[in-house]
Amino acid sequence: MAELRYDGKVAVITGSGHGLGRSHALTLASRGAKVVINDLGGKMDGTGTSRSAADEVVNEIKAKGGEAVANYDSVATEASAANIIKTAIDAYGRVDILINNAGILRDKSFKNMTAEEWQAVIDVHLVGTMWVTKAAWKYMYDEQQYGRIVNTTSAAGVFGNFGQTNYAAAKMGIVGMSHVWAQEGAKRNIKVNVLAPGARTRMTEDLLGPLAEQMHPELVTPIVAYLVHEECPVTGEIFSAAGGRVARIFIGACLGYYNKNLTLEDVRDNFAKIEDMTDFVVPRSAMEEMGLLMKVAG
Ligand SMILES: NC(=O)c1ccc[n+]([C@@H]2O[C@H](COP(=O)([O-])OP(=O)(O)OC[C@H]3O[C@@H](n4cnc5c(N)ncnc54)[C@H](O)[C@@H]3O)[C@@H](O)[C@H]2O)c1
Repeated sequence: MAELRYDGKVAVITGSGHGLGRSHALTLASRGAKVVINDLGGKMDGTGTSRSAADEVVNEIKAKGGEAVANYDSVATEASAANIIKTAIDAYGRVDILINNAGILRDKSFKNMTAEEWQAVIDVHLVGTMWVTKAAWKYMYDEQQYGRIVNTTSAAGVFGNFGQTNYAAAKMGIVGMSHVWAQEGAKRNIKVNVLAPGARTRMTEDLLGPLAEQMHPELVTPIVAYLVHEECPVTGEIFSAAGGRVARIFIGACLGYYNKNLTLEDVRDNFAKIEDMTDFVVPRSAMEEMGLLMKVAG
């Protein structure tokens, strides 16, 4: 089978100065993509800035014969996010691939979480993913009629995790936006999928369990690289990847209990049927979920 390559493609990867983003960038660049290495270069809590994180990855790519350019803007505001995409347009004339990966943590139990801790995490993950995609969308949708986007969520968002109200809200918001963009981009060959990664990086150094040693970022990158390839077979889907395991995650709906004259007591008396996962479906849109009523109503 032929090797999957990205010759002629331009990729923007946010937060690619460290960890997972760096791994994604090295792989795409090694297979022919021209890459924008965006990184604010701050600490894990989002404070501080430095050019060295992005510069080091650019140098690494160039040393191996690849093409890359650095950008040091924050993803978190409309203007700075637009500047990240402008870097791709100025250097390479287009943007085919966008991997929204930049992230910070401000973990705190809900009881103790401050407004500042809430907002900082929402701004980088949720607002940042939205503004960078909005800037790229203009080119993908209007000019190229082509785009491949992977947005980074987290199992903490999809399934919940102690002390991560802000992070979970942002990460599940990213899932919602991605579903909408998958639908809106479908006619223009824009595919939008979501990654829930697990890897040993500075963000998770102290958090991973017994398999930490094998949880290399390089084991997350293959599914990401496939989803941003021209051949990508899906849109609007979520994938978990960690330590060599790759699997689809989905949001499903049970067929449920139906009664045209539903009462409170009906709900109590039929709760098992309401929760019965036999014959569940995975709706691809809100309309499809609504269609389940038609199905059970006959
Ligand atoms: N590592 C894991 O197990 C794991 C699990 C679930 C989700 N994630 C997600 O994966 C992504 C990458 O995380 P990682 O583990 O590689 O962490 P990391 O800290 O190594 O990398 C994140 C990068 O984002 C950059 N960044 C932060 N704020 C930015 C901003 N405003 N603008 C531009 N760049 C910014 C940082 O400088 C850093 O280089 C994040 O979105 C994270 O939430 C990671």
